[in-house]
Amino acid sequence: MTPFTYNNGSMQAEAVSLQQLAEEHGTPLYVYSRAAFEERWQAFDQAFGEQPHLVCYAVKTNSNIAVLNVLAKIGAGFDIVSQGELERVLRAGGDPKKVVFSGVAKQPAEIKRALEAGIRCFNIESHAELDRIQDVASAMNMIAPISIRVNPDVDAKTHPYISTGLKDNKFGVDINTAPELYQKAADYSHINPIGIDCHIGSQLTEITPFVDALERVLALKEQLGQQGIELHHLDLGGGLGIQYTDETPPAISDYIGALLTKLNDKSIEVIIEPGRAIAGNAGVLLTAVEFLKPTDHKNFAIIDAAMNDLIRPALYQSYQDIVAVTPRSDGTDAEWDLVGPVCETGDFLGKGRSLNLKAGDILAVKSAGAYGFTMASNYNTRPRAAEIMVDGDKAHVIRRRETYDDLIGLETVIAD
Ligand code: LLP
Repeated sequence: MTPFTYNNGSMQAEAVSLQQLAEEHGTPLYVYSRAAFEERWQAFDQAFGEQPHLVCYAVKTNSNIAVLNVLAKIGAGFDIVSQGELERVLRAGGDPKKVVFSGVAKQPAEIKRALEAGIRCFNIESHAELDRIQDVASAMNMIAPISIRVNPDVDAKTHPYISTGLKDNKFGVDINTAPELYQKAADYSHINPIGIDCHIGSQLTEITPFVDALERVLALKEQLGQQGIELHHLDLGGGLGIQYTDETPPAISDYIGALLTKLNDKSIEVIIEPGRAIAGNAGVLLTAVEFLKPTDHKNFAIIDAAMNDLIRPALYQSYQDIVAVTPRSDGTDAEWDLVGPVCETGDFLGKGRSLNLKAGDILAVKSAGAYGFTMASNYNTRPRAAEIMVDGDKAHVIRRRETYDDLIGLETVIAD
């Protein structure tokens, strides 16, 4: 489905007018489509067919509890990286038995809470972390199910900041030394090795790196079998890209199909941790044009959304399409740099965009459902945007706009 389409000259989210949402709730405003989240998760789930599998949505991508709840209701598992994300999943009604816990430095209190909640698996990333999990589990007299995140050293061919499967990256354990760590895990009293994990990067637009990584993981599985360590699942991480502009990422079914062909083994469960491919195109960020500031050199359109609302363009020079919610029939296009009110030259959401603009116009920054709100900050003491979930012809406020009290209320001046 295409959740954001024009109808009678104005863009809608499902059956709700974005122009009206902006007028009613103000801007900047994140708007999500429930149906889009559901459809994308289901596309992953269905692509597995008869293969035992679990699709664990990567919570960091968009962690609003309404999003998690919608996905939990259709059977989703969750990939978390902190206790905070675990608390969100639990409050959203997610099943802890479908939770995998990733991340390079889980704290003892986080490990304890996850063991109490009864999560599916810890994805561990170092010798030291394995030791820590053994210590916490043994103090609680519980067995911790683990997989080891291996670094298969494949080039994901994506932006260096979101490439994670190379030897240079901080993530995972060198795949060549993993057997030794598995042996240590198997010998530990309170650890149960149940899987292998890998995640090679994000926004991948080719299938080959995923298949190469799987090939290396399968070789490791075989070697571990010879060591007498039998595993129950392979966790192949997330990373499937989406179309922001002219990328042509593989279809979900082709991506999963290629993995299953390479795997060719129905006895093993496959876990995946997609985030962006589910959430990315399920959301837009609405923003209003504050002022037009044409100069001799350049045209600036100053908008009310900024790098604190959506940091991807500033941080990764990433391109996100920006369109008028209600395109004008009068006037002509010009080239605009769309810049926010924050005091940084890097504060832009788009550069050199051909648009027909007037002050007050509402724009939609597309593909903002993933790594949008979750990476937002209060820089320049700007309240974070509200979030809306559209469901058919209904719009639900799933996070109200922050107030100045929300921002400042945690602080105190020191007594003289
Ligand atoms: N699993 C693990 C262990 C991860 O680290 C990630 C993302 C995912 C799954 C989900 O990956 P996805 O399917 O979304 O590609 N902030 C960056 C992306 C950072 C990705 C971090 N890890 C961005 O805005 O492009």
